[in-house]
Amino acid sequence: MALIAILAGDGIGPEVTHEARRVLEALGLDHQFEPGLVGGAAYRALGHPLPPQTLELAHRADAILFGAVGDPEMDGLERTLRPEQAILGLRKALGLFANLRPATMFPGLEDASALRPEVARSIDMVIVRELTGDVYFGDKGRGHTKMGLREGHDMMRYDEAEVARIARVGFEMAKRRKKILTSVDKANVLETSQLWREIVNEVALDYPEVKLTHMYVDNAAMQLVRNPGAFDVVVTGNLFGDILSDQASMCVGSIGMLPSASLNEWTGTCGLYEPIHGSAPDIAGQGKANPCAAILSAAMLLRHSLSDEASAQRIEAAVIAAIGAGARTPDLGGTHSTSAMGDAVLAALQ
Ligand code: NAI
Ligand code: MG
Repeated sequence: MALIAILAGDGIGPEVTHEARRVLEALGLDHQFEPGLVGGAAYRALGHPLPPQTLELAHRADAILFGAVGDPEMDGLERTLRPEQAILGLRKALGLFANLRPATMFPGLEDASALRPEVARSIDMVIVRELTGDVYFGDKGRGHTKMGLREGHDMMRYDEAEVARIARVGFEMAKRRKKILTSVDKANVLETSQLWREIVNEVALDYPEVKLTHMYVDNAAMQLVRNPGAFDVVVTGNLFGDILSDQASMCVGSIGMLPSASLNEWTGTCGLYEPIHGSAPDIAGQGKANPCAAILSAAMLLRHSLSDEASAQRIEAAVIAAIGAGARTPDLGGTHSTSAMGDAVLAALQ
């Protein structure tokens, strides 16, 4: 029996996480659920966005189902107390260095894509984004130049071990899919990227069956719109991955459809699973949120943390079937409420 921590958070987080939990429960598996406070909700109740008891639960759990954090009423708080610190703190505390973001076109949702339907239809890719290094975690600061001009800097930095472990995740993922890996960098300009490329090439020696291509990030941005069907697995650093994965999400349609996994190893250890969207304060409390991203995150949880591929596929098939049967929340152009969408997935699951 596995322990699944439910950290629902703020805004639509609790609404979509509730539907994901219903779907998990409907599978009739012998898992235990334990809720914990996180984000603005935790700050309100306990004075901190990531209180010690939540961190303790996260360490104890076999996997974490995470909703979203963020509360516009807390914009005035000092940075370390803001709800968003909770997700950064969890990634750091659990060493979640690998972020998997699948972007797949769901049959029947082509009209929701920003791309032409015939281009959108071909999308079936996973972006593997490094999550605990790069320019986000390097030296940063503000100061003044000799001329007295205000200056700011953030240092881009990776070491070989950090690159090698995320590269391995990319190759392992590609090995299980179409065996095509695109490593995205900016090696024509950046030293960090030249190291990245060197290490990826070294790791590639262990994966002769995977076809590796290197691509500059600017070209990758272009190809993602021009010919997204050519991508299978993309591995890249934190900054490039942040931008490219948001871009990929728009190629597939609604942000309400896209799940993610954050892992500290390829599989088997505690991972965190969350929709890629935030707390959506503009629609919170109105029953308008699409719960599919959260439900699909629960499927990823079963796949990666609990090694239950069969149940993961059951959930994914149920979401596809519900969409196919016409279930649509407002972001997909329909009128289903959050719970009605959950009901549609549950009905398809039976
Ligand atoms: P957001 O993703 O919350 O919302 C962007 C837009 O997409 C909004 O119009 C929203 O209504 C819509 N949307 C998002 N999820 C949806 C769903 N499931 N169904 C239907 N429509 C959906 O991003 P935004 O507005 O930039 O941020 C809101 C708050 O969330 C901020 O406090 C931000 O810091 C936080 N945030 C938290 C994240 C996390 O917990 N991992 C990730 C991104 C943002
Ligand atoms: Mg982002």
